[in-house]
Amino acid sequence: MAQIIAEVSRTFNEFLLLPNRTRTDCSAATVDLRTPLVRHIAGEASAIELQSPFTSAIMQAVSTPDLAIALARNGGLSFLHHNQPIQGQAAAVRQVKNFKAGFVTSDTNVRPDDSLSLLVDVMRRTGHSTAAVTHDGTATGRLLGLVTSRDFHPQRHDLDGPVSGRMTAIADLAHAGSDITLSEANARLWDERLDCLPVLDTEGHLQHLVFRSDYTDNKRFPNQLVDAAKRLRVGAGINTHDYQERVPALLEAGADALCFDSSDGYSDWQAQALTWVKKHYPEIPVGGGNVVDGEAFTFLAEAGADFVKVGVGGGSICITRDQKGIGRGQASAVLDVAAARDAFRERTGEYVPICSDGGLVHDYHVALALAMGADFVMMGRYFARFDQAAGAKLPTRDGFVKEYWGEGSNRARNWQRYGQGGQELVFEEGVDGYVPYAGDLNEGLALTIAKLKTTMVSCGSKTLPEFQATARLTLVSEQSFQESHANVTLRDTPATVS
Ligand code: IMP
Repeated sequence: MAQIIAEVSRTFNEFLLLPNRTRTDCSAATVDLRTPLVRHIAGEASAIELQSPFTSAIMQAVSTPDLAIALARNGGLSFLHHNQPIQGQAAAVRQVKNFKAGFVTSDTNVRPDDSLSLLVDVMRRTGHSTAAVTHDGTATGRLLGLVTSRDFHPQRHDLDGPVSGRMTAIADLAHAGSDITLSEANARLWDERLDCLPVLDTEGHLQHLVFRSDYTDNKRFPNQLVDAAKRLRVGAGINTHDYQERVPALLEAGADALCFDSSDGYSDWQAQALTWVKKHYPEIPVGGGNVVDGEAFTFLAEAGADFVKVGVGGGSICITRDQKGIGRGQASAVLDVAAARDAFRERTGEYVPICSDGGLVHDYHVALALAMGADFVMMGRYFARFDQAAGAKLPTRDGFVKEYWGEGSNRARNWQRYGQGGQELVFEEGVDGYVPYAGDLNEGLALTIAKLKTTMVSCGSKTLPEFQATARLTLVSEQSFQESHANVTLRDTPATVS
């Protein structure tokens, strides 16, 4: 007969943290959220350390270049999804690696003989008021001039007339060569009283625009996750089917870390694929998963995984448990795998970080996952709500929603993630739906980070290792869970201050 695991499968809602003594030197300002991403000698630093413990899910609806850029600027890491052709994913990696803070690829471009009315349409579509006039109307064409919404008035100027009649021609424009740094560009913007400085290559083709308004914006991101050349870091998802072709293309494009993406990583296929990557590309960190117990963690760690992702069936869009009866409560899974990671460290002297993936519903669940031993978390629903995620933003009666769909849904049909036999999805393991729209990632994540830091302060911890070592958790009863929530009739209009 089957073996029955005595311990009940528990999830985050069943736990609360107890406050520990907070010393005077422990405050939100002194909390350090750095955490290791990849395998390293215990007691030494990891080759890649996240500046904040967040990664975005390997999903079509979530990890796009825009989101990867925003998350890396906030110290975390995206794993760009692999449910696309190899060259498309490699191009997405390149887009993140080529991002230069403050150096914007122009998205509002016209030809000199385009009409002003077309220019108005383009500006309305992009929401930007400065357009590059290039010989072919592309972002990298030869720059002929700039035209802004201040250069013409719909009532005063003939909108059928050409853009060239109102643009400032290149001969009268300040511009810079491609070797200019951001601080040099900023100095010129102020010294020469410019709003925008075009950056050109030696043939006069437009490369970037630098705006005065963006420079101040860059100062908002002191914890960016960057490589030795100061380029943002980006990860990429891979699968056990086409890795021999996909991995070299992703490395060529500059990916900083890879991760096998599988709904069940406890398999010989994943071990073989990990061994192959480690043999051919020993320098690139590669994660494995997903697993839910110590035995599976040890299997992947021994096969060479540089980190291991934990979670089966807990994702917000996941119906694997309904469909197949497979999975484990996320809290039990993280606690069990964390214990195996610590045992592996004792036995081998190597620390293999673990990631809690999926099922994080409230901000405080992040703190619980980290306290239970996760080195970092991966989230799908959370990031899908932001402007930078792939899903369309749609109006509803009560506001806006964003589309969010699982990799195992009919919309994504990511058969490589689900071993259902053959090259197709036989049945769905994910749903296709909506999540509440939450605006800009930068603002949303700042709030989550603020909550995480204050939770750590209450627990008397200035670092994540300290938090893991000293956190005290209590199980909650149904009644104490009720007690956790507000118990008054809520005001439905904002309070006014008199
Ligand atoms: P969430 O943060 O709760 O939305 O969970 C995201 C995680 O769910 C991902 O990182 C994957 O591990 C997992 N996942 C993604 N798509 C599916 C699916 O279609 N079915 C089941 N799990 C999924």
